[in-house]
Amino acid sequence: MTGYLPEMETIAREAGALLMRHLAQHVAIEYKGDVDLVTVADRASEKLIVERLRARWPDHGIVAEEGTRKDIDAEYRWYVDPLDGTTNFAHGYPVFCISMALVRKDDQIEAGILYDPTRDEMFSAARGQGATLNGTPIHVSKTTTLAESILGTGFPSHKRHKNPNIYFYHQLTLRSHGVRRAGSAALDLANVASGRYDGFWEFNLNPWDTAAGVLLVQEAGGRVTRFDGTPFRLDSREVLATNGLIHDEVMRNFAEIFAGRGLDELPSPVEYAKSRE
Ligand code: IPD
Ligand code: CA
Ligand code: CA
Repeated sequence: MTGYLPEMETIAREAGALLMRHLAQHVAIEYKGDVDLVTVADRASEKLIVERLRARWPDHGIVAEEGTRKDIDAEYRWYVDPLDGTTNFAHGYPVFCISMALVRKDDQIEAGILYDPTRDEMFSAARGQGATLNGTPIHVSKTTTLAESILGTGFPSHKRHKNPNIYFYHQLTLRSHGVRRAGSAALDLANVASGRYDGFWEFNLNPWDTAAGVLLVQEAGGRVTRFDGTPFRLDSREVLATNGLIHDEVMRNFAEIFAGRGLDELPSPVEYAKSRE
């Protein structure tokens, strides 16, 4: 499946250049939900990628975030996030990427790329062939304890009031070197694959956010599961990706937090304000 990667990379670079042109023009924001943003750049990037994939592999299906659904029962289908990190992009915060993955009918992820046009970083992986960053092999980190780890997470823009992640963010912040919330789940996964993060979790993701990044982490020697250790699937929504070495410890911490045990109370802002008087 490495045979697909050069053409995937070419398409992603073209889409990346398009995003950078739009970024310079300060695009207008539209709302899909409360704080679920979309811009003209998301749609233009999707159009470009879908046209290129269709022209090159007309028999393949495509599922892309901004609405493309073509031949989803085909032997192979693509999952495309034409712009992961839209909120960052819309505010001019340069942390976003393009994500594309090729998946077999039985949901096996065969190839994936993530392209960060702001740093010209191309992350690529093919099943069984390892993962690379700009052509150089990458590996997950060697950190062995949660206490010495740096982690990433994200918060959904959809049904955000129903999400309990702030408790996990608080606890894991207290139990590690820190938790980053960079705003691109796909790049978060690439950060685990390349050892920049030791782990990442999020509650409510879609296959276009995860497919390429999950393969990258696995091919870079890491582990990806649901929060309880059951296998990750494309429709899992929740994802825990680590270097493998801290995985069991993170899962034990999650189990405790889900059970409501060992939770340090969030400091009360009211008490804090009083203590300043
Ligand atoms: C979002 C980003 C963000 C994550 C959200 C995603 P989008 O994707 O990956 O980091 O926290 O859950 O929806 O909307 O920018 O493509
Ligand atoms: Ca996304
Ligand atoms: Ca997107």
